[in-house]
Amino acid sequence: MIVLAIESSCDETAVAIVEDGKLLSSVLASQVEIHRKFGGVVPEIAARHHLGNIAPLVDEALERAAISVTDVDVFAATYGPGLVGSLLVGLSFAKGLALALNRPFIAVNHLHGHLYANMITFPSLIPPFLVLLVSGGHTELFSVNSWDSIERIGKTRDDAAGEAFDKIARLLGLNYPGGPEIEKLAKLGEEKYNFPRSLREKGNYDFSFSGLKTSVLYFLKKNPQAKKEDVAASFQAAVVDSLLSKTFAAAAEYGLKNVVFAGGVAANSYLREKAQQFAKDKYNVYFPPIEFCTDNAAMIAIAAYNKAKRGELSPLDTNAIPYLKF
Ligand code: KG4
Ligand code: ZN
Repeated sequence: MIVLAIESSCDETAVAIVEDGKLLSSVLASQVEIHRKFGGVVPEIAARHHLGNIAPLVDEALERAAISVTDVDVFAATYGPGLVGSLLVGLSFAKGLALALNRPFIAVNHLHGHLYANMITFPSLIPPFLVLLVSGGHTELFSVNSWDSIERIGKTRDDAAGEAFDKIARLLGLNYPGGPEIEKLAKLGEEKYNFPRSLREKGNYDFSFSGLKTSVLYFLKKNPQAKKEDVAASFQAAVVDSLLSKTFAAAAEYGLKNVVFAGGVAANSYLREKAQQFAKDKYNVYFPPIEFCTDNAAMIAIAAYNKAKRGELSPLDTNAIPYLKF
C-alpha cells in the first residue's frame, strides 16, 4: 500500500510517501527565512507560500520515490490543529487528488503525527508506553495503553515548552525559531542561575512555564551584564529539568518502561542527553531522528498508513479544524 501525505499546518510545506510503512521519500519547503524577520509565523504569508510550494513539492516527492501519482493508493493530509489558511492548502490538495484519482482519503491529527514520528525508526515499538509531546503549541504527557486508548495525564497550564524557548530567545535578541538558537548558545555557557521549576508537588503531571519566563525577564532587567550564554544554559536546564522530572515520575507511577519523546523540542540535544541520564538502565528512551521531531510529512504518512490498515478512512468533506485536540 502506497500512501502520499501532505503536512501544511504551520510554516513548513511537506510531502512524504510510504510503501507498506517504509519511507520512500520525504521533502520539505521551509518558510523559516521568510518569517524570521517578523519574529514568528505570519498566517496570511504562510498560506500564500504553501499554495506556491505544494504542487512542485508533490512532484518532487513522487520523483524521489520513483513512482507516478497513479501508483498512490491512499492520499492523506493534516487537518488540524494549526493555522486554518495553511491547513486548507494541504488538505484541499490531498482531497482533490483523492477525488480525481478515485482513491481513499485519510485526515490525520498533527499531534498523532508527531507521536507516530517514532514509528519511522522504531516500527516494532508498540504500546503500552509513555509519551512526552513537546512542540511549539503543545506540552503534554500521554499514557498510550493501545493505539485507540490514549490517556492524557498532564499538560501545560500556560505556555508550551517550545513557545517558552521562542519567547526567551526573543528576550535574548536571538532569531526565530528560538529553540535551536538557545540550544547553540547554551553550549557555550554555564548553568549558573537557578531559575524556578513550577508545580513540583508529587503526582502533579501538569507543566507551567510562565513563571520561568517572568523570572528570566526580571533577571535580565536586574542583571543586564549577565552573559547570554549562561542565561540560555540556565533557562534550558530549568525547562529540561521540569519536563524530565515529571515524565519519569509519571513513568514510575504508571509502571511504563518505554518512554517516547515527540515534537520540535525533542530535537534538543541537551534534552536527549539528560533523558538518558534520567532513564539510567530502568527505562527505554525513544527519540525520533532530528528531522522527524520538527514538522514533516513522513510522520503524517506513517500515521495515515496505520489508520489505513485499521480501515479508518475519512470523508471528502473533512474540514480543517484549527483547534483540534489530541
Ligand atoms: O513540532 P514543531 O516543529 O511545530 C509545532 O507543531 O509546534 O515545534 C516547533 C517548536 C518551536 O517552538 C521551536 O523553537 C522548538 O520546537 N524547537 C526546539 C528545538 N528545535 C525546535 N526547541 C529546543 N531545542 C531545539 N533544538
Ligand atoms: Zn508540529
